[in-house]
Amino acid sequence: SPKQSEDLRSPICCIMGHVDTGKTKLLDCIRGTNVQEGEAGGITQQIGATYFPAANIRERTKELKADATLKVPGLLVIDTPGHESFTNLRSRGSGLCDIAILVVDIMHGLEPQTIESLNLLKMRKTEFIIALNKVDRLYDWKARRNSPIGMTLKKQTKDVLSEFNRRVTHVITQFKEQGLNTELYYKNKEMGETFSIVPTSAVTGEGIPDLLLLLVQWTQKTMVEKLTFSDEVQCTVLEVKVIEGLGTTIDVVLVNGVLHEGDQIVGPIVTSIRALLTPHPMKEIRVKGAYMQHKEIKAAQGIKIAAQGLEHAIAGTSIYVVGPDDDLEDIKEAAKEDMQSVMSRIDKSGEGVYVQASTLGSLEALLEFLKTPEVNIPVSGIGLGPVHKKDVMKASVMLEKKNEYATILAFDVKVTPEARELADELGVRIFIADIIYHLFDQFKAYIDGLKE
Ligand code: GTP
Ligand code: MG
Ligand code: NA
Repeated sequence: SPKQSEDLRSPICCIMGHVDTGKTKLLDCIRGTNVQEGEAGGITQQIGATYFPAANIRERTKELKADATLKVPGLLVIDTPGHESFTNLRSRGSGLCDIAILVVDIMHGLEPQTIESLNLLKMRKTEFIIALNKVDRLYDWKARRNSPIGMTLKKQTKDVLSEFNRRVTHVITQFKEQGLNTELYYKNKEMGETFSIVPTSAVTGEGIPDLLLLLVQWTQKTMVEKLTFSDEVQCTVLEVKVIEGLGTTIDVVLVNGVLHEGDQIVGPIVTSIRALLTPHPMKEIRVKGAYMQHKEIKAAQGIKIAAQGLEHAIAGTSIYVVGPDDDLEDIKEAAKEDMQSVMSRIDKSGEGVYVQASTLGSLEALLEFLKTPEVNIPVSGIGLGPVHKKDVMKASVMLEKKNEYATILAFDVKVTPEARELADELGVRIFIADIIYHLFDQFKAYIDGLKE
């Protein structure tokens, strides 16, 4: 009934899994967008958020004839990267969500980051649904666009069905080895103890109605208490980004409560919300596009906030709102504790390369990657945004100490002509890439060259 929908907030669903299993493509299929094709190297390197209003979900699931049961206003979906170097972003995404979709490629079965994601979900006792994706790749598959999975399976030959069953059984066995009971959702008699598998295709849209309906029904059936709207603001920073015309903005996930234009907020700094923006429904917040401006926004939602001083905000921390009865000092104290845990991951040793990235999220990911034993490149300094002369100056300190570290690893940022000129003059190397591990390849080739 409409009364109920006023009391429940939208569930937050995080989509996780191994690289290239089709997480972004599945969202593109639901949104009718092409985000995945615009990604450098076809891989996701940032966390994203998309709001799906109930009306769209109803439309997409109508063939299943269950439309009357939607009680939530919509669904907020968080996209995460599957590449191994983005554990921190997977962890951040899984920490925010009410439920998750774990995507597995039917042709590959369980892979290393499937298991990593699984462990993150187990650790937080997060419910999840398995999307067994790319069913259209089964040999001789007859596609029936956007069809519920049961209807499309009926159209397949005996050979296709036996191949399908063989692969499903294999995946169920692999999950069993991880200590989990799983079953095709339409055979699952004990939801909650046995995790459901929904076969899907992000290319043909098959199984998408089932996936959406199961998500919404399962959350509103089992999580009413958790989803009951609360006034207390719960808000996490996903990314800190410079946007032309807006200055430094933050992308946040508002899990609960209401934000208003003009609200005094506390993160690393105290400021007031100048603009509350969202992408249009069914659009990805991490993709540049038109924004809608709001006077107030109710949870759950992915929001872009513009305000003074946001360049000091840090991805992964909470934003607090100062209410009329609140003590500003108490709130500042809480925000400080939050921040220290994130900053501790950005370690600055004495000798090392200089690292520059476009967003704090990607900077964190890059630092995490450089720290892994196989890579092991020390970092002495960090920067955000385009490489300027001052960054080259900072990197040049290493020329005297350890020449090979007089290097800037620039991820997804531009280098100003003045900075380039100064770097050439001083002998500071700048490696640029828009895929993290390409930076490593370039640096390694350079070091190997020195040894010869
Ligand atoms: P990361 O975010 O980088 O971890 O990858 P992802 O899981 O988001 O996968 P992505 O959406 O980038 O898809 C990877 C590749 O698989 C792309 O070339 C897609 O076109 C393809 N793909 C995704 N889903 C399907 C599917 O259902 N069927 C087929 N045939 N191809 C798919
Ligand atoms: Mg992706
Ligand atoms: Na990909």
